[in-house]
Amino acid sequence: MMKILFLSAIMLFLSGQIFASNLISKNLNKQIPDSIMKIFNRSCACCHSKDGNFFAKMKVNFSKWDKYSENKAKSKAQKICDEIISNSMPPQSWRKNNEKLDITKKEIEIVCKWSNSFK
Ligand code: HEC
Repeated sequence: MMKILFLSAIMLFLSGQIFASNLISKNLNKQIPDSIMKIFNRSCACCHSKDGNFFAKMKVNFSKWDKYSENKAKSKAQKICDEIISNSMPPQSWRKNNEKLDITKKEIEIVCKWSNSFK
């Protein structure tokens, strides 16, 4: 009888831990959802990730996104929306040569919705 009580107590404790860690990772907004990352990978990552352009990476580096603090991720996400909504990113020169990879109007909407989901 004691053994069963003891085991149930452990189970309860463990499920509590899993629940708590889920809550934490949700609150941190650390990971960019796959559906959004797909867009960044196609239209942005050639400059904004580890093998990209030095100056681009200084501003936004998707390879290091998970190391950004919560506040930094939030402000970068907002900046990303500002840049794409105003057609400042991707750069015009890149667009001319990469029409097929360019971000679409619909994708801009999707990304900005994500940007605005940061609390
Ligand atoms: C051809 C390379 C290239 C591509 C592709 C590109 N960027 Fe950039 N981006 C840059 C460079 C270089 C800078 C830094 C210089 C500057 O601000 O103009 C930059 C700066 C930025 C900044 C910071 C702007 C600021 O003033 O703080 C953001 C945000 C950004 N890019 C988002 C994006 C997003 C989102 C995409 C994809 C939709 C993208 N970029 C695609 C090269 C690129």
